Amino acid sequence: MDFINKPAVILAIESSCDETSAAVFLGDTVVSNVVAGQIIHEQYGGVVPELASRVHQQHIVPVVAKALSDANITKNDLTAVAFTRGPGLLGSLLVGTSFAKSLAMGLSIPLIEVNHMQAHILAHFIEEPKPNFPFLCLTVSGGHTQIVLVKSALEMEIIGETQDDAVGEAFDKSAKILGLPYPGGPLIDKWAAQGNPNAFTFPVSDMPGYTFSFSGIKTAILYFVRKMEAQDPQFVEKNLADLCASIQFTLVKMLLQKLKRAARELKINQIAIAGGVSANSGLRKALAELGQKERWNVFIPAFQYCTDNAGMIAMAAYFKYQQNEWTPQSVSPMPRMSL
Ligand code: KG4
Ligand code: ZN
Repeated sequence: MDFINKPAVILAIESSCDETSAAVFLGDTVVSNVVAGQIIHEQYGGVVPELASRVHQQHIVPVVAKALSDANITKNDLTAVAFTRGPGLLGSLLVGTSFAKSLAMGLSIPLIEVNHMQAHILAHFIEEPKPNFPFLCLTVSGGHTQIVLVKSALEMEIIGETQDDAVGEAFDKSAKILGLPYPGGPLIDKWAAQGNPNAFTFPVSDMPGYTFSFSGIKTAILYFVRKMEAQDPQFVEKNLADLCASIQFTLVKMLLQKLKRAARELKINQIAIAGGVSANSGLRKALAELGQKERWNVFIPAFQYCTDNAGMIAMAAYFKYQQNEWTPQSVSPMPRMSL
């Protein structure tokens, strides 16, 4: 199928974790982006994969219908259907993949698979200002912490990553220790705004090169909180804002020290952040300040394109659309998928 001369009208579907999302890309931009979250996981303190896939099944039809109607189009206007192939939870990915395959087959239009982590990075091309290639992207989510050298829209190289927990996991697990519900990252962010980042000191891991490690800080927080609660059972309650501010300060410091090293050594001054944790206000502020000092051009996505959303899937799909890069109907989801 050769669609290069047809203006793009792409429906994109994201279902890799616990957000069901659909977006429409029209002409050269994202015109609708609908996201349905899943509150059911809160009571379990984390995403329960089997429940997530069932909720995706309930959400997908209304979410797609809303994305089409928000864009003022019908399914017959579409010229391609894009979907997240991975990485993510198998059952969740299956819902989006099967839906996209069936719709593309029914409409006899091409199918485009998208890598979720590439899409987080390509979200930077949805709105101005857009980075120039090559640039460095710090991708920080619930499952990943990577420094990526982005050579082009379809050519990316991971130059450093975490050897254990992702930074989003570190936020969520720290929040859990403090008794906050899942996902705790945004709540740490909220409480941190009223706290003193220097109230408590937590160890900063020192890993070689651009490697990160976040499992030590989580353990340090756990032991510290246990020790303090033994002296005062209300310690967390009384110091919640200061605890959150100090934890956030430490995690952000660990991220930025590696990013600074990579930018200096690779002599790149186009610096972007992506992924759910890039919504963190402490990280956004510290990155903007560091960027001024280091004379970087800093790119921070709009909030709606930081956490999981289909707008970024649509954007990534458009780069493939321009190359006539279609995916066969025999495709299946890939829970583990590198860049
Ligand atoms: O990219 P994302 O939406 O899903 C994955 O692909 O993992 O990232 C979710 C992660 C969660 O760990 C969540 O707690 C974290 O991003 N997160 C935040 C904030 N908003 C989302 N962490 C810190 N501060 C925030 N404001
Ligand atoms: Zn994500």
